Amino acid sequence: MNEPNAIKIIGSVADFETFPAQVKVDNQPHYIVEAPRKGEEPQRYNLISAICPHAGGMVRPHLNELICPLHYWCFDLATGESTNIPGEQLDCAPLAIQDGQFVIKV
Ligand code: FES
Repeated sequence: MNEPNAIKIIGSVADFETFPAQVKVDNQPHYIVEAPRKGEEPQRYNLISAICPHAGGMVRPHLNELICPLHYWCFDLATGESTNIPGEQLDCAPLAIQDGQFVIKV
């Protein structure tokens, strides 16, 4: 069982200059993306799986989407929600920044 405030360090913020940024978490491909924000609130980030929920293809960024080249399911680049298959979604978790590191709660 995880501790209540357990976190996993994803990487140093300084190592990522542009987004989406490819990163491996538990040896699985993911993207760090800029999350939607309102007005003047600080930039937030999400960690999105690069593995398509349809049949395991590897999604790739194209314009404002992540697109799976196997059967062309498309996903919003900021949230992972499918833009052409209702109800489908890439795994997505909010990232926090602690001591200059991107972290997720585990
Ligand atoms: S495996 Fe991604 S659309 Fe089919």
